[in-house]
This record gives sequence, C-alpha cells and structure tokens, in this order.
Amino acid sequence: MSHHSPIPLAPRILIVGGGAREHAIAWKLAQSDRNLQLYAAPGNPGMAQLCTCVPISASAIEELVRFAVAERMDLVVIGPEQPLALGLADALREQGMAVVGPSQAAARLETSKSFAKEVMKRAGVPTAQAESFTDAASARAYVEAHGAPLVVKADGLAAGKGVTVARTLAEALAAVDEAMVGEKFGTAGQRVLIEDLLVGPEVSLMCFVDGETVVPMLPARDHKPVGDGDTGPNTGGMGAFAPVYDFIADGLDDEVVENIVRPTLATLRADGIDYQGVLYVGLMITATGPAVIEFNARFGDPETEVVLPLLRSDLLDVLWALANGHLADTEVAWADNEAAVCVVLAADGYPEHPRTGDLITLPPTTEAGVAFYAGTSRQDGLLVTSGGRVLTLLGVGKSFTAAREQVYRFARTVHFPGQHMRTDIAATAVERTI
Ligand code: AMP
Ligand code: GLY
Repeated sequence: MSHHSPIPLAPRILIVGGGAREHAIAWKLAQSDRNLQLYAAPGNPGMAQLCTCVPISASAIEELVRFAVAERMDLVVIGPEQPLALGLADALREQGMAVVGPSQAAARLETSKSFAKEVMKRAGVPTAQAESFTDAASARAYVEAHGAPLVVKADGLAAGKGVTVARTLAEALAAVDEAMVGEKFGTAGQRVLIEDLLVGPEVSLMCFVDGETVVPMLPARDHKPVGDGDTGPNTGGMGAFAPVYDFIADGLDDEVVENIVRPTLATLRADGIDYQGVLYVGLMITATGPAVIEFNARFGDPETEVVLPLLRSDLLDVLWALANGHLADTEVAWADNEAAVCVVLAADGYPEHPRTGDLITLPPTTEAGVAFYAGTSRQDGLLVTSGGRVLTLLGVGKSFTAAREQVYRFARTVHFPGQHMRTDIAATAVERTI
C-alpha cells in the first residue's frame, strides 16, 4: 500500500498563467466540493472572479517560487510552456512543493522538436521522417534534393506559429530562409527540422501522467488556421471540440497510450528523466495509423477549454493524485453523452499584427454560455483587448449541433472592434452513434 498525502482542508492552489486555458483550469477547480483557495499569477480579469490574482509574470521563476513558498501553496499548476522551459517545476519541487508540470529536462519533448524526434526514434514511435539543420545552406540543399511537399519547423518555442506546411519547393525554401536567415522566430529558428508531410485528420490526446501511471483524457480537435475551411496562416488555435467519437470508437486512445505514450516515457526514464504533468500528444491519423506531429508538455489551448468541461471527477482530486504520484488509485470519469465546442474570438489583425486596446462588451453573466478570458485587461475599470486571442467561448450540449448552436448564439452577444472568429468550428464533428 502506498501512503497518500491527504488533501488539506482548505487547499491553497496557485495557477501559473493568464490565458483561456488557465481560466478553464480555475473554473473547473472552482467546481470542487472542497473549500479551495485559488491564486493565479498573473491571471486575467476573468480569473479574478475565481482567484486572487497576483501580478507576477508566468516567466518570473524566482518570484513565483518565493510567492508559492511564502504563501504556503499546497499545489502549483503550471499552464504555459515558458515557465516549464525555464525550470519552474524543478525549482518548486526543490522546495518540496506538489507540482503539475514536468521538469525542464522532460519539457524538452516540447521545447526542442529535434530532441522529441530523437526520443521518438529510439522509442520506435510512429512519426514523420525528419532531418535537423543548423545552417541554411544544408537545409536548402536538403529541400532541393527532397522536393515538395515538405514541412519546415523551427526547433524551439514559437507560440504555435513556427511550422510551415510547404506545398511547393519555393514555399519550402522561403520558410527555411525566414527561420534561419530572417530569424522570424528568433533563436527558436536557428535550428530547423524538415519533415515529411503526413496526411489525415488531426487529433489531440492529452494525458495525465504522475511519473508512472498514464490516464488519457477525452480526445479533442483543434482548428489551427485562422480562416473558415482551414484557410490562411496558422494560429495558436481558433476553436476546438471534444470528444472525437470516431477516434474513441476505433480504440485509438488505448492504442496511442500503449504504442506512443508509454514507450516515449520509458525512453525518457532510461535517460533518468521522469515525467510528471500533462503530456499533450498531437496526432495525425494516417492511413497506417496514428503518428505524432508534436508533443506539448502541458495542457493544450484551446483543447483544455473543451476537455475539462466534460470531466465528471473533481479536478482537484486528479491533479493532487498526479502531483503526489497516486493516479493509479484515483478515478477519472468523463461525461459519456455530452459534446463541447469552443470558439476563439480573435483581435483585429491576429495572427500577424493583433491590435490591442479595443473595448469589449460582454453580457453580464453566463446564462448564454461560459467565456474563458485570454488577451484581456482592465483599463480604468473597462475590459479591453490585450492580445491576439481575446476570449474563448464555450458551448456544451447533448450533440455537437446543440453545442455549436449555443456557442455561436453566445458569440453574437459579445462585441469588440475588429473581432473575428471561425464560423465552422466542429462543423464536421462526428456525432455520438453508440
Ligand atoms: P505543430 O506546431 O507542430 O503542431 O504544427 C502545426 C500544424 O502544422 C499541425 O497542427 C499540423 O496541421 C501541421 N503539421 C505539422 N507537422 C506536420 C506534418 N509532418 N505533416 C503534415 N502537417 C503537419
Ligand atoms: N492547441 C495546440 C497547443 O496547445 O499547442
């Protein structure tokens, strides 16, 4: 028998980050039957209704650790990738703190695409064939020799925008030059990965991982291009839906855990790296089965905003078990007959040049639906836009049709100058048939 550390009576929880994903985590935690004391750094005006927001940036590692220790946090949940890349989870664990988020070494699955490839290769995990380059001339020569189509990826973190799916040789060469000569992605593009094009529908499968036990969440689908019909440049995500019923019906969730997640974690462990956090697997369902497009070392955004609303267990129980290593003994239950759809309201000019400072008007409460706040701030008491993805609106129903109706009805009641959204999120989602 393992000894479980019990959840304190009034647990103090710090959520690091201030986007719609972190708002959704706070919103779900706030549904707990327990008396939670929620804190957010830095949080946002929406999270401020649920949490005490402290003005510490998600990348200010020393300040975050000082705050968590001084305020005796019982649990820290790390939302974004930057603090993971900077070693926040390691620094907190050194102080004996329970943390949801992998170490800096484990987070390299996300922060270095070439590291992730190398691990997958050793683990025998299906993924696109790829080569990594640090000088533009060799990258160009490879592109010329290989021919289009090709996918060109900045190695490091690029806010979801470092990938070009090049259909022609000219596009592939331009993408190499942009990353390596133009330094569009800064140091993240000093190394590029050039990989084969995979074809098929995409699925995001996030898993709770406590170092040992892997518990998959419901599968979701993100919509990355900015425009309807998947047109225009890629964004951080314009909307999502969950669950992906056809994926579950084919048993692909279990297949991905067995053939992709477990071998990847075992390969890390052989290098002395334990993974404790959420592992996001971005998949392409190819003709020969699921293949990995990318790993993220955290909850996905906007997937989290559709997956957590379908969780029936208390999220605190799950995250507590994850951070304390006893997920194997914890029930993780999901709604079995509900569909969730979220739609991102984006700022004028997003993704290239998002404009900020536009006044947002929103219906007072949430009868119409739930709004997760992202690029928003308060100025003289008024809610204004402060980033590219402004709000993520949620609809939940007994079918995708019902969930879509709800979220798009809600969207018509929210206004800011220059706002835009996709009108086809979940339009092709397969309804539950079993
Ligand atoms: P990533 O940032 O790695 O998720 O890539 C962004 C998007 O580019 C993905 O969601 C896919 O739509 C596309 N993509 C990435 N890698 C490939 C690939 N090897 N083949 C086809 N599409 C890809
Ligand atoms: N939705 C993709 C991501 O979170 O990076």
